[in-house]
Amino acid sequence: MRPPERIVLDPDLLLRRLTPEDASAAHRAVAESFEILHPWMPWAAEWPKPADQEAFVASSISEWESGTSYVYGIFDAGDAAWVGTVGLHARVGPGAFEIGYWLHTDHTGKGMATRAARALSEVALALPGVDRVEIRCDEANTSSRAIPERLGFRLDRIEEHTPDAPGESGRRMIWIKDET
Ligand SMILES: CC(C)(COP(=O)(O)OP(=O)(O)OC[C@H]1O[C@@H](n2cnc3c(N)ncnc32)[C@H](O)[C@@H]1OP(=O)(O)O)[C@@H](O)C(=O)NCCC(=O)NCCS
Repeated sequence: MRPPERIVLDPDLLLRRLTPEDASAAHRAVAESFEILHPWMPWAAEWPKPADQEAFVASSISEWESGTSYVYGIFDAGDAAWVGTVGLHARVGPGAFEIGYWLHTDHTGKGMATRAARALSEVALALPGVDRVEIRCDEANTSSRAIPERLGFRLDRIEEHTPDAPGESGRRMIWIKDET
């Protein structure tokens, strides 16, 4: 069973599955937000090329079909402005999804990532066979770690890792929310 392809978060946010037509807006959003993405996102090591986001959108569509990841674009209510991206990723063991997110730099500081992550954690935990969601972020990424803290996830552990992006400290926090 899959999560819904559209989730409307009243009154002003829409999460929806991506289509190939979203690639150019995705590229523009990544380029405009490069300064906040580069320190934390391994895929933002270099200035983005349009082909990178075409590949990202294509893989998000095929991963949705295979059930390995469910990536949503976050849009404003009119489905016009690219607010960010949030996704469920089946890469943290059975019965669990990891939630990942990033925002367009114009839309930070308004609670939008927190709202999107809350919605997806509720959706994930309502799926049959899912009893855990995780948010993994580097300890130095204070904006990101504030999201699971705000949503009442518990800090399960901190693992040492080789930094994947220039802002990372090498200490990865694993935040967990169990089925309630
Ligand atoms: C991580 C990231 C998504 C966090 O963005 P953000 O804007 O801080 O998160 P939110 O949208 O949830 O907004 C939270 C802020 O809005 C404020 N806010 C306003 N209304 C709010 C509401 N209704 N609910 C929650 N927060 C609200 C919060 O107080 C907080 O402000 P603060 O940063 O001054 O404390 C963003 O920094 C980003 O994209 N970073 C680069 C990519 C990245 O690091 N991704 C995560 C990798 S693990």
